[in-house]
Amino acid sequence: MIIRENIKISELVTMRIGGVARYVFEIEDESDLPNILEELNARNVKEWYFLGCGANTFATDSGFDGAIIINKMKGIKSEEKDDSVVFTVDGGVDWDDFVRETTLKNCTGVECLAGIPGTVGAAPVQNIGAYGQEVKNAISRIFALDMESNETVELKADECDFSYRHSIFNSTSRGRYFIYKVEFELRKGEIEGELYGSLQKYLDDNNITSREPNVLSDAVRAVRDSKLPDPKYIASSGSFFKNVYVDESEIEKLDEMGIPHHGTKVNTGWLIENSGLKGKVFYGFKVSDKASLVLINESADSYEDLEKAVSEISKTVEEKFGFKLEQEPNVIGK
Ligand code: EPU
Repeated sequence: MIIRENIKISELVTMRIGGVARYVFEIEDESDLPNILEELNARNVKEWYFLGCGANTFATDSGFDGAIIINKMKGIKSEEKDDSVVFTVDGGVDWDDFVRETTLKNCTGVECLAGIPGTVGAAPVQNIGAYGQEVKNAISRIFALDMESNETVELKADECDFSYRHSIFNSTSRGRYFIYKVEFELRKGEIEGELYGSLQKYLDDNNITSREPNVLSDAVRAVRDSKLPDPKYIASSGSFFKNVYVDESEIEKLDEMGIPHHGTKVNTGWLIENSGLKGKVFYGFKVSDKASLVLINESADSYEDLEKAVSEISKTVEEKFGFKLEQEPNVIGK
């Protein structure tokens, strides 16, 4: 384990926002797991935060008087079965590297999650989802260090309360489980059923009829590249706002108001765009002109400015359509 002190969180997260963290612990091997609590106690650290590669997280300007714990383990193992492959993947593996391994083995299940910035260990936390797939459907087991008992535990997918951008890891059990390894079981073969609209359109426009996993993952990467900023070059944290979900009873009202929706999911990017906010800049943060749920940090360096920008955007949408926007990324220490 590597322990560093007084590290700027803005340098650990893709939104480039956040003050100083007292400690950063880098976990390099499973043999480090039993020592984490001991090292925290030795420094009298009472608070900790598990971070992947910071693609969906930032911190307030006052930083974090605790330890940020980062999984640096990067192993991938796979075991072939008759119709499926079981992948056992360390939490520190880059998510898209794992997707490539699965498509190389002609497995379906996560090919539409190609190109999502982040790590494998972070994927279950917000149950990453895109282009019709959600990671919850691919996970069989999660291996975690339980910070309450200081024991390693195995959690099955149905113990994690997964739903849209939600799990026990970002709600009821926040901070409790350090996910160090995830097991996925993926079927060999091709995706079934209808494809996500913009993905199908890309395939049609390019005369692609194959549904092979690697063909679909390449198509997803192309669609993403045309809409979403690459956090390596442009500071952002992906979709900043979640899509709003309504009750079944409210669908009729959406139709009356001419608001596009997919079942109970309101196309919230549309709400933001149709509030006249697309491409507008607030306190250094730009509402992406390609995907309105995304905020790009063009020139800001404070969380205070982010809060002001978010409050203006949310107020404008609520006044126009009556929907409250909800933030997607996590804030360290909040
Ligand atoms: N729309 C607009 N204007 C916009 C953006 C969207 O009118 O500026 C409307 C359109 O009607 C469009 C619909 O919203 O058809 C859906 O748009 P899109 O396919 O671009 O997806 P999204 O709802 O904006 C969500 C996820 C993305 C994911 C895509 C594709 C959330 C918060 N975001 O975005 O995930 O890649 O679907 O599945 O659910 C992320 O979470 O960081 C992320 C990028």
